[in-house]
Amino acid sequence: MGLPRADWAWIGEKTTEAFESPSEVRRITANSEIFKYFYDLVRENRRTGANEFVSGLTARAGSGSGLTDEELVFNFAGILAGGNETTRYTLAALTLELARHPDQWRRIAEGEVDPSVATEEGLRWSVPGMHVMRTATEAVRVGDAEVAPGERVVTWIGSANRDPEVFDAPDVFDVGRTGNRHVSFGAGRHVCLGSRLARLEITAYLRALRGMVTSVELNGPPRYNGSNFTWGLNELPAVLS
Ligand code: HEM
Repeated sequence: MGLPRADWAWIGEKTTEAFESPSEVRRITANSEIFKYFYDLVRENRRTGANEFVSGLTARAGSGSGLTDEELVFNFAGILAGGNETTRYTLAALTLELARHPDQWRRIAEGEVDPSVATEEGLRWSVPGMHVMRTATEAVRVGDAEVAPGERVVTWIGSANRDPEVFDAPDVFDVGRTGNRHVSFGAGRHVCLGSRLARLEITAYLRALRGMVTSVELNGPPRYNGSNFTWGLNELPAVLS
């Protein structure tokens, strides 16, 4: 996003706090600080035009068909949040499962399963974005439920990813699973903007691990965050040999 290097640590920590702080006040404060940061960036960039990413979007905003300042700020915050938490949770969850299932690790290490295939199982299994919500614009039936206009519907992605009608042995972690139709990136109009980048990162991680490491072992209890939205491991004491 072309943000100054000096701001990276601060903005990364603020994003984690905005989603995962146990204190509601700190979550709200962190969100406000992030919005103010991006609002200042948009205004500053109007003057200097120095940030290419912001300039690209503000140019579209100015064309009459694009985004308002408020929408720009929300989108910046969304891209930041989407990119910051999620991918690292899949990497950590994959590492944990590979430590728990040395047989699965060997399948990757010995070349039986390509890292890009194992990436999909890591995504199905880890579910860093736990749910998405939509508001019904018209009456609709979902399964056995009638949904009235204006009612909200939440889909729990972890549940969908273990749907026995879609996945064989859904509770089995199988790095070689094929036809892996998980919905970890959501679906439809708001499907994850960063899914290609995330897949690239996770596959690169597995390739690096395969090249550098013979075994993955835990040496302490995994510790998860307390969020029901962006959920994942905060701590994973492990030995990579
Ligand atoms: C394992 C990694 C990731 C997972 C599991 C994930 C998950 C998701 C999910 C479930 C949604 C849909 C939200 C909805 O339908 O309401 C979404 C949207 C989005 N993601 Fe990701 N994401 C990941 C990585 C990333 C990365 C790396 C970026 C950015 C660099 C990113 C940026 C976004 C953005 C901007 C949206 C909103 C798209 C829209 O509303 O049109 N995500 N993501």
